Amino acid sequence: VTAPVGVALIGTGLMGRMHSYALQAAGVLDPRVRARLRVVCGEGRERREGLAGAFGWRAQTADWQDAVSRPDVQLVIVATRNAEHAAAASAAIGCGKAVLCEKPLGATLAEARALRDAARRAGSLACSCAFNYRFVATLALARRMIERREIGDVVHARCRFLLRTALDRLDHAPWRSSPSLAGSGVIGDLASHHIDLVRWLAGEPATAFARTRALRSGETEDIALITLELASGATAVLEASRAAGGHLLSSDIEIDGTDGTLAFSLQSVNELGVRRGAEARTIAVPHPLWWPAGHPLGWDASFVHQARDLLHAVALGCAPEAATFEDGYRCAVVCDAALRAAATGRTQPVLDRDDALAAVPRS
Ligand SMILES: NC(=O)c1ccc[n+]([C@@H]2O[C@H](COP(=O)([O-])OP(=O)(O)OC[C@H]3O[C@@H](n4cnc5c(N)ncnc54)[C@H](O)[C@@H]3O)[C@@H](O)[C@H]2O)c1
Repeated sequence: VTAPVGVALIGTGLMGRMHSYALQAAGVLDPRVRARLRVVCGEGRERREGLAGAFGWRAQTADWQDAVSRPDVQLVIVATRNAEHAAAASAAIGCGKAVLCEKPLGATLAEARALRDAARRAGSLACSCAFNYRFVATLALARRMIERREIGDVVHARCRFLLRTALDRLDHAPWRSSPSLAGSGVIGDLASHHIDLVRWLAGEPATAFARTRALRSGETEDIALITLELASGATAVLEASRAAGGHLLSSDIEIDGTDGTLAFSLQSVNELGVRRGAEARTIAVPHPLWWPAGHPLGWDASFVHQARDLLHAVALGCAPEAATFEDGYRCAVVCDAALRAAATGRTQPVLDRDDALAAVPRS
């Protein structure tokens, strides 16, 4: 059994509820980890008290500076709107806390870089970016199969993330359309998940080309079509939309290799499709830590696994398996290249400032 970890949560919206649930469920799933839900922070006393009552947060405050500096807190979860990630997460790092920051890491590339740099300076502190799809057991199996070369050389990734929230303003969080609160639209919100998975499963992107469309002028993009060339020579094509009329939520990814293709769909989250020529089979992915074999898990399980990983890592002072701030930053570099490609109509290099500096010959 590891020592209990004191947690502060900033943000009381959809993700605030999800992280509250995941922290509790992690301790039920694995009694070796324990979270102490110390303080919840967000706008609106009613929402804070609602979350505190439902999940047992011991205190609530409107002041995130107060929340992140409490001595009984070791882990801060930042689940606010994108534009509020950077200030809260960097303050938490400054107070010596481990951090789980929602994606995208910052609203802009500069904010993501500043957070990555702060995490680097903090050294051994666990600073994770909430790319929860890495904790979907089916995708973790896909990664192991790719590493074992079960589909040969990876040649292409194809990803689709489709919602219909921009139509009739179905989105529970309209701030996502505001450039100042969200940074970007579907590129930072939806495509970022798949860009992280492309990096995780297939390799680092080297160039990006994109076309985007905003349904209303002055708002962030609602539709994005992105083509990536990877450093390995492989390619990826990503489609992200919140104006797909028939899709409440579809999130699909396929990885083509020289010997086969792996296929994942969030609507069949426990199944990995494997195709080799005329042969097509489905693996029912086992979940040894959960209920008896065959009982299906959902999207929420990825957040529970993520919470369990973090509580374990923070208690033991070791590195979590979760995506790091470096991963969050690398993803932001790709998003930025895609946004620049859409603005200019030209393919853009996926080049971060460190790469650019390293490329300058020293005199
Ligand atoms: N990992 C995922 O799959 C996933 C899914 C949805 C959202 N997200 C991310 O989670 C974040 C939150 O999204 P959401 O859907 O929960 O949004 P939401 O609108 O439901 O909630 C945002 C919350 O932030 C709070 N907030 C804003 N400014 C604050 C401040 N200064 N101090 C304290 N609280 C403040 C608001 O009160 C609100 O409770 C976003 O960055 C989003 O991209 C991730």
